[in-house]
Amino acid sequence: MKQFAFTAVLLSFALPAMADELIEFGREIAQVNCASCHAISTDDASQHPEAPPLRELSARYPLDALAEAFVQGIYVGHPDMPEFEATVEQVDALLAYLDTIQNPVP
Ligand code: HEC
Repeated sequence: MKQFAFTAVLLSFALPAMADELIEFGREIAQVNCASCHAISTDDASQHPEAPPLRELSARYPLDALAEAFVQGIYVGHPDMPEFEATVEQVDALLAYLDTIQNPVP
């Protein structure tokens, strides 16, 4: 019983820190893999004229629906869009980051 309480306290401290790290990792993934075409922050412009800013994705898809596409290697049917294959950890991080930049859905 004592051990339970201890674990719960540890977790409540560890989780916010882990979430921050996940988001930061996701931001780096977007920076390295997506920023050459897509806007990846809340107010930048896409480098590629046809690439939608990533902050607008949730207006088009539920973000969750993207997870599977990423794990399988995203290929959206545009010749300019490279195939992006990610591990589950990378996808989790990327989605956690994307979640923080989405425009509010009206
Ligand atoms: C070489 C340029 C390029 C890179 C790098 C790139 N994309 Fe794209 N992406 C595009 C273009 C151009 C489109 C628009 C395709 C279309 O509308 O047909 C697109 C479309 C998308 C779409 C679909 C949007 C929609 O509404 O259909 C998603 C999701 C997406 N990209 C995610 C990503 C993510 C995440 C990364 C990084 C892991 C990434 N892309 C990297 C060029 C790129």
